[in-house]
Amino acid sequence: MTDPTVTRVCFVCLGNICRSPTAEGWMRHLVAQAGQQGAWDIDSAGTGGWHQGEPPDPRAVTAAAARGVVVEGRARRFEPADYDRFDLVLAMDRENRAHLLRLCRDAGDMAKVRLIRDFDPAAAPESDVPDPYYGGQAGFVEILDQIEAACRGLLSARG
Ligand code: 4NP
Repeated sequence: MTDPTVTRVCFVCLGNICRSPTAEGWMRHLVAQAGQQGAWDIDSAGTGGWHQGEPPDPRAVTAAAARGVVVEGRARRFEPADYDRFDLVLAMDRENRAHLLRLCRDAGDMAKVRLIRDFDPAAAPESDVPDPYYGGQAGFVEILDQIEAACRGLLSARG
């Protein structure tokens, strides 16, 4: 049976090598700082499978490391069965969310899908974490504040 004291969250982007592993690492970092490791089950995945098995993009690793956050893991593709494993499935952008909603099997699955920035009280509704993959290092740095604010909001929402 699922432990109701544990919040199970999966961060989802397109490739699972830039944004979602960064969010996963950031959330782990904040949860550890708060001493709440036992209350969270944190993972990430991508809607696309092109990078399956690959480590995170070095640009994402470098940007987060400069703020003391470890980004690691291996890319994997989100699959419908993941809806059984998680309470919250947090999309980085609206395109990811649309893809995730197409993978839902029922209304229960759909209720788990949100945009990550919905958890940032300062973000406008429907805000995306933009895809940094085709840009330079600056884009990887820019998304850190967005990801951090959303993860802090998530941590306090689940209190
Ligand atoms: P991510 O970034 O979705 O934040 O991991 C991307 C990684 C790879 C690709 C696109 C976005 N790609 O097209 O291969």
